[in-house]
Amino acid sequence: MNSQNLHDKSALWHAPSNIALVKYWGKLPGVQIPANPSVSLTLSQAKTKAKITVLPKREPWIELFFEGQKMPSFVPKIEKFFGHVGEHLSWLNEVSFKLETSNSFPHSAGIASSASSMAALSCCLVELDDLLHKRESTDFYERASFFSRLGSGSACRSLFAHAASWGKADSPDSFSSLKFVDERATAIEIHEKFKSMYDTIFVVSSKEKKVSSRAGHGLMSGNPYAKARFSHALENWNYALGWLKEGEWDHLGSLVEEEALTLHAMMMASRPGYLLMEPDTITLIHKVREFRSQTGHALYFTLDAGPNLHLLYPEEEREACYAFINQCQKELGGTLIDDRVGLGPMRGNHE
Ligand code: PMV
Repeated sequence: MNSQNLHDKSALWHAPSNIALVKYWGKLPGVQIPANPSVSLTLSQAKTKAKITVLPKREPWIELFFEGQKMPSFVPKIEKFFGHVGEHLSWLNEVSFKLETSNSFPHSAGIASSASSMAALSCCLVELDDLLHKRESTDFYERASFFSRLGSGSACRSLFAHAASWGKADSPDSFSSLKFVDERATAIEIHEKFKSMYDTIFVVSSKEKKVSSRAGHGLMSGNPYAKARFSHALENWNYALGWLKEGEWDHLGSLVEEEALTLHAMMMASRPGYLLMEPDTITLIHKVREFRSQTGHALYFTLDAGPNLHLLYPEEEREACYAFINQCQKELGGTLIDDRVGLGPMRGNHE
């Protein structure tokens, strides 16, 4: 096994973002070890394309081009990530790298790309590692999930079709054959209904967040509600897994909204407390709830650590829900990213 054999070899992958239904918020000691299990749907449109080319060892270790432009400001985060991966794949320290990445959505869209980019880069690294060892990993996506976690926790859920769960917990009855661990996510088989779900992302604001996710996770350690949140999340995770299997969207949708509001409640109750929702986030939440109670359409929202709403609905509700969302956008402004559940990472030069 000689890392020189990898010189000038490259790997190219596309990987999607994911949207958590039960949220990861707060860490245990270690590298991105979650304080509670989380579960997400894998998306398809919001994705990153990443190409890694291996070069002979030189300075700088990593050169990064984002959408064709050299981006030295992104390098420290990637160096830290490759440093962690290098503890498991030692050849990373014997070579240098050229990274070329691009996103399917504008960088300024207010959509975090760390999950999709860490997932795409991890797939490239596992492919190169397989090439070096002249093998094909049978657990390719599990390995990529493990490495993605070292870059950005929630990224480890982007490696699998439809849905994934991450975090150690006793398996619920509905998934008794699976083992859930902290080090990587596990693919879960969900009801057909959810495999064609839509997630129309309503971008309320594309401004940079005032408090990063990293700082937000950190603030959970001094949060007086943290302990209650972690046990509540575990309970919600159990319910969510059962409903994902059964195709029970109304119950799950309500829980998903509760999770989003609880996530933001944790931010508000941190010390110092902070608010990432914008006035239009609140306006939209009221509108979604009013639309649901007046029409009976099963449209539910969730939020990440930011002001933008992910509007989730099943395929059969597409026409009515999309028309409503479009109308809201006409009234409030903002932009829409029309996404839906997808199949996970793809190798090679597909668009
Ligand atoms: O993966 P991180 O460290 O960027 O944390 C993301 C946390 C949330 O997006 C708010 C929730 C989640 O589980 O994805």
